[in-house]
Amino acid sequence: MSVVTVGRPQRPLSGRCQVPSDKAISHRAAILAAGSAGTSRIGNFSPAGDCHASTALVRRLGCEVTEDGDTLEVTGLGPSPSSRVFEEGLDCGRSGTTMRLGAGLVAGLPFTLQLTGHAQLLRRPMERVAEPLRRMGAEISTSDGGRPPIHLRGGELAGIEFTPPQASAQVKSAVLLAGLRASSPTTVFEPIPTRDHTERLLAAMGAHVVVAESDQGRSVRVEPGALNPLRLVVPGDASSAAVLAAAAALVKGSDVVLEKVSANPSRIGFFNVLRRMGARVEFEPRGDGRGPEPVADIRVRYAALEAFRIDAREVPALIDELPLLGLLATAAEGMSEVRGAAELRVKESDRIKGLIAGLRALGAEAEELEDGFIVRGPTTLRGGVCDAQTDHRLAMTFTLAGLVSEGPVEVAGSEFVADSFPGFLQSLRGLS
Ligand code: S3P
Repeated sequence: MSVVTVGRPQRPLSGRCQVPSDKAISHRAAILAAGSAGTSRIGNFSPAGDCHASTALVRRLGCEVTEDGDTLEVTGLGPSPSSRVFEEGLDCGRSGTTMRLGAGLVAGLPFTLQLTGHAQLLRRPMERVAEPLRRMGAEISTSDGGRPPIHLRGGELAGIEFTPPQASAQVKSAVLLAGLRASSPTTVFEPIPTRDHTERLLAAMGAHVVVAESDQGRSVRVEPGALNPLRLVVPGDASSAAVLAAAAALVKGSDVVLEKVSANPSRIGFFNVLRRMGARVEFEPRGDGRGPEPVADIRVRYAALEAFRIDAREVPALIDELPLLGLLATAAEGMSEVRGAAELRVKESDRIKGLIAGLRALGAEAEELEDGFIVRGPTTLRGGVCDAQTDHRLAMTFTLAGLVSEGPVEVAGSEFVADSFPGFLQSLRGLS
């Protein structure tokens, strides 16, 4: 396991930086392209380890995939691929998105296979996708306690109306993907809306998708049909941008601009909270506005921070940024509280437990709640050793803690950062 040691920077963070391209959009682009007829061209495809898991999966499923720099070309399986039995398990690495969206793709194909992955992924819940896909007609079973490997025999599907018991864009996306190959329309209803990249890309690829919003939530209906190939340049990752924005919000006097970031409203909850806390955050729209995703340059300037409260309604738009917010809360005046975020316990690690253990090891006043956490600030962190628990988001959060601790912070498991943000340390150094 790699260990990185981080100390206080000598100067405020400043400058402009491009973050890697969006992981969630890249996964979807590769997997939807695999389900289409024709060759898709995806520019600025994410270099994240997790997205490699998706390209490796679609290649194994029989798609032709070529990479030219950061441009990916994927030739889809078309409307009626021949039936196949895969003898060996298909590896999804540590990527939950690859496994869950992959299951949605395969559910409507005449394929018999097993989806498996790294030990970290083998601990994560998969019945949440297996159950609706089974209801649609796929033969699908999970292993011990609803975990991977997933055994799947795709086939003839019927559309369903489905309300996922947990707010999950991955579950919604898997069901919508399967719905494309069903015999009747499929509707997913979300009492609390989640990120909508799948809906946007499906529409861009010519699928018949209808989104309706009401006081009760959001419904997405997809009709069966073929997908056209995709032409897309993936914008910068809002979650990676959030890491550098958090660094700027922690280090006194900082002023940074993160360029060409996805400004999708379903992803930028972190920046809204940062603004509420008192940091100065500005969005400058970029691009011609014609692509499926809005893009902006985001400028973040340091200011004294105040505590925040977050409840279940706000969680999906910042789910992956909650560890960063936990760290920011140590620097903020007052008691910060996160509720309605029990999903954090089934991410790449139990992020509530790992985050609070790490923050406390550094001297923070922080406590776990069943569905969130409480942090009292401001405290000056002492420094010390934190275990990232094989989790990229915890590794980056603890790295930032080193920027504001009295003594150095050692992060065990820094290599996992590359699951979402290869080059993170270089980007951070570039700003400091
Ligand atoms: C993701 C959705 C979220 C998020 C994950 C990526 C996606 O997970 O935490 O990092 O790309 O759809 P859930 O769908 O499990 O909430």
